[in-house]
Amino acid sequence: MSERINRQVLLRAHPVGAPRDTDFECVETSLPALGDGEFLLRNLYLSLDAGFRQWMNEGAGDGYLPAMELDEPVMGLVLGRVEESNHPLYAVGDLLMCRSRWEEFSIADGSDYMSKLAPDPEISPSCYLGILGPTGLTAYFGLRDVGRVQPGETVLISTAAGAVGSTAAQIAKIRGARVVGMTSTDEKCKWLTDFLGLDAAINYRAAGGVEAGIAQHCPQGVDVYFDNVGGETLDTVLAHLNERARVALSGAVSTYNTSEPVPGPFNMFKVITQRAILQGFMVTDYVEEYPAAIEEMTGWLKSGQLKNAEEVAIGIENTGPAFCRMFAGGNRGKLVVRLTENEG
Ligand SMILES: NC(=O)c1ccc[n+]([C@@H]2O[C@H](COP(=O)([O-])OP(=O)(O)OC[C@H]3O[C@@H](n4cnc5c(N)ncnc54)[C@H](OP(=O)(O)O)[C@@H]3O)[C@@H](O)[C@H]2O)c1
Repeated sequence: MSERINRQVLLRAHPVGAPRDTDFECVETSLPALGDGEFLLRNLYLSLDAGFRQWMNEGAGDGYLPAMELDEPVMGLVLGRVEESNHPLYAVGDLLMCRSRWEEFSIADGSDYMSKLAPDPEISPSCYLGILGPTGLTAYFGLRDVGRVQPGETVLISTAAGAVGSTAAQIAKIRGARVVGMTSTDEKCKWLTDFLGLDAAINYRAAGGVEAGIAQHCPQGVDVYFDNVGGETLDTVLAHLNERARVALSGAVSTYNTSEPVPGPFNMFKVITQRAILQGFMVTDYVEEYPAAIEEMTGWLKSGQLKNAEEVAIGIENTGPAFCRMFAGGNRGKLVVRLTENEG
């Protein structure tokens, strides 16, 4: 194999507070030759996931994933096609969704998380990282198993204009709920109601914040809260839970940029009196069920019940800035980076 150039994004500094462009650097390296039991992936899309911010902090390894090291490629979810293979299980042409690195080519041996895809020709491959990937599946399983949404219930969703949130909001609508989303600007609120078809949206930065928004848009209280932010927003929502409410703890993005301990919620007694359930969940617990869920969601996408809300940044050099934009609330739906000229 003639020497091939790889471009990678390295973590140059552990972000302090919100990540900045200078925390990342795109560099050129050469690809080593393929060893026995290895295969070469040409990466088509990189997934930008808010949750990965946590593992960028120094010493942040929590047993679930290791902390990212300085001057090493940033870890992330990747969609790639096998281009060369010395591995019996992965053939040239296979499309894989895997945990890998922000880079144009990856050499893998199959030991890290890897899922072989059977893409539907009518569906854009990027969907398998977003709405049909771990992002959309987080919404699907969180609502199904923790939220247990019933028709007519009021479902409140934080970061509703983000990747997981926008999918959760649409699935809750499909399940027959009345859906209220929270986001940071009036423009994104309008997008939630006009484009995604939510029943109402709350600008949590407007006067009165979350409290006033819930009073106005959830006057009968909240039956299911799909929580992506944690912190003060979660605390405020707890005070508005209905009896037997369910809170699906998906993420805590409001705390990912802090290095200080975050105060616990004050409104826990409301959980007791309302017999509410707060439960965390990890999408990776459902790997065995992914194919069936993807099939159902593919049907919704094709019928138009589910819209693929996605923003695509082009080129590996734009990966760091796109990731930073997400923490400024600059995205609507799923953010992915396309690494190839065509859609793959
Ligand atoms: N449990 C699981 O298995 C699992 C799997 C995947 C993801 N998740 C969680 O899902 C959540 C959403 O992740 P995503 O990748 O889909 O990201 P995303 O929602 O597309 O993007 C992050 C959004 O968070 C909001 N945000 C950013 N900084 C914030 C802050 N300091 N305080 C409050 N809101 C802030 C912004 O929306 P606004 O403009 O609306 O503020 C931004 O658009 C994360 O908490 C993530 O950890 C959980």
